[in-house]
Amino acid sequence: MSTASSPQPGSADGLAGAASVVIEGLHKSYGPLEVLKGISLSVGAGQVVCLIGPSGSGKSTLLRCVNLLEKPQQGRITIGDFDVTDPEADVDRMRRHVGMVFQQFNLFPHLSVLENCTVAQVKVLKRDKAEAERIARANLDRVGLSEKADSHPDQLSGGQQQRVAIARALSMDPSLMLFDEPTSALDPETVGDVLSIMRDLAAEGMTMLVVTHEMEFARDVADKVVFMDGGVVVEEGPAAQVIGAPKEPRTQSFLSRVLNPTQVQAPER
Ligand SMILES: Nc1ncnc2c1ncn2[C@@H]1O[C@H](COP(=O)(O)OP(=O)(O)OP(=O)(O)O)[C@@H](O)[C@H]1O
Ligand SMILES: [Mg+2]
Repeated sequence: MSTASSPQPGSADGLAGAASVVIEGLHKSYGPLEVLKGISLSVGAGQVVCLIGPSGSGKSTLLRCVNLLEKPQQGRITIGDFDVTDPEADVDRMRRHVGMVFQQFNLFPHLSVLENCTVAQVKVLKRDKAEAERIARANLDRVGLSEKADSHPDQLSGGQQQRVAIARALSMDPSLMLFDEPTSALDPETVGDVLSIMRDLAAEGMTMLVVTHEMEFARDVADKVVFMDGGVVVEEGPAAQVIGAPKEPRTQSFLSRVLNPTQVQAPER
């Protein structure tokens, strides 16, 4: 493991390179609804953690807290040496280093694929246009979409749009990538392309926190699997243990539903 999570020479903010993530005692409520009830988990620098759990368990809320799209009421999140939850934290500076890929791609529909991948580089990182385009093209090439640089999102398949979303995030040189069910909205035949890019990223040492129902991916790629239910971490451990031999009844019941989706079962509650 590298020491990439410590401040790098020449890095103004200590977030260059793959960063670790540590979440401690995180609480988040919406009004009276307590969605996260004291979540603690960590992702080592260069590691992949897959987050699984039923609908409404707080997975998206947790990811959104990590890059402060949501503000937790209690608890601490650090990315590398950077305390995200410090009220004095420079949120924009932190967000520059965190790439997020959503279920619904969220590309800018009025911009070309290339422009989608350059706009934040120019606006946020202040790169000049030529440099931004060079980096964008390299990342489009990485996801196998160089030839679509001038297309618009509505001319692409869902899988291609998701690959653009990944290229866009990578163009910002993130220290951490957050994925929220990146393949759930895709046609089955395009899921594999997106997962294979994510496998490559993991192999290259990107720190990744991934919400997914792709158990085979989790089993192959994750250093750790975390099962959440009702706003708490119920079980976590190596993928082979949590997915292959879960200890907790709630994990067992969730997995049997996910792994046998066509089997008719009584609703959980
Ligand atoms: N902005 C919000 N305002 C109020 N309640 C919210 C808000 N966002 C999420 N919630 C509630 O928080 C709970 C957890 O939602 P969250 O989206 O984190 O779940 P999830 O685990 O990602 O579910 P899914 O698998 O369906 O995506 C849900 O009950 C949801 O209705
Ligand atoms: Mg969600």
